[in-house]
Amino acid sequence: MSELNIPAVRGPRVVVALDFQEARDALSLVDQLDPTQCRLKVGKELFVRAGPALVEKLTGRGFEVFLDLKFHDIPNTVAGACRAAAQLGVWMVNVHASGGRAMMEAAREAVDSAGASSPLLIAVTVLTSSSSQVLAETGADTDVGRQVLRLARLSADAGLDGVVCSAQEAVELREVLGQAPLLVTPGIRPAGAESGDQHRILTPAAAIAAGSSFLVVGRPVTRAQDPVVALEQINREIGQVLTAGA
Ligand code: C5P
Repeated sequence: MSELNIPAVRGPRVVVALDFQEARDALSLVDQLDPTQCRLKVGKELFVRAGPALVEKLTGRGFEVFLDLKFHDIPNTVAGACRAAAQLGVWMVNVHASGGRAMMEAAREAVDSAGASSPLLIAVTVLTSSSSQVLAETGADTDVGRQVLRLARLSADAGLDGVVCSAQEAVELREVLGQAPLLVTPGIRPAGAESGDQHRILTPAAAIAAGSSFLVVGRPVTRAQDPVVALEQINREIGQVLTAGA
């Protein structure tokens, strides 16, 4: 373990969020990218439009794909969806921790049934768009930070591989949960980049130093004048922190 407490990770740390409406736009970006430099994230909109065929194209080009569909349903249904994701050959899939222990355990079992190629299974704790008021509306009388910790602990107990969290939550989650869980963090903005609609942002270097395992990066790469150069800069910044911490 490094002095900066940076857990080891195999392969690229950047997961480029393919937030496009059309498969052809996603693919024309992907044509410029190299699977040794990034992984890819496919979310609800693109998946509903382009489906498993697009995911197969991406994996066929050598990319590891995070299928970000945030499953939340009865355990049997979530297990079926996770099994289908595993069979599709994705690298990572996720569920909502608020679906509870039985749902997460069913997801774990389903994912594991894929054997050696089983995807990583992570949980969303509290959506970053949710405030304490949203939690209260839905019957959880607690603050967001406490709910994040509670759900992160629950997902670790249920055997999940990690959680999606803001990079700013990563330090506390590392303190509480240790080095084992994967922390997958959106809200990344290189110095000087537009923050867009993200409020709680960290630079790539700060996110890695805070204990993030993987950085989900959308617009700073997808909307860059030169996405390849933007990704190279982010990877260079990450590499510098990892070298300093080694
Ligand atoms: O463009 P940007 O870098 O803000 O994209 C971030 C990606 O991470 C988007 O796909 C967004 O949906 C996702 N995400 C997020 N905040 C979360 C969970 C996911 O921004 N809490």
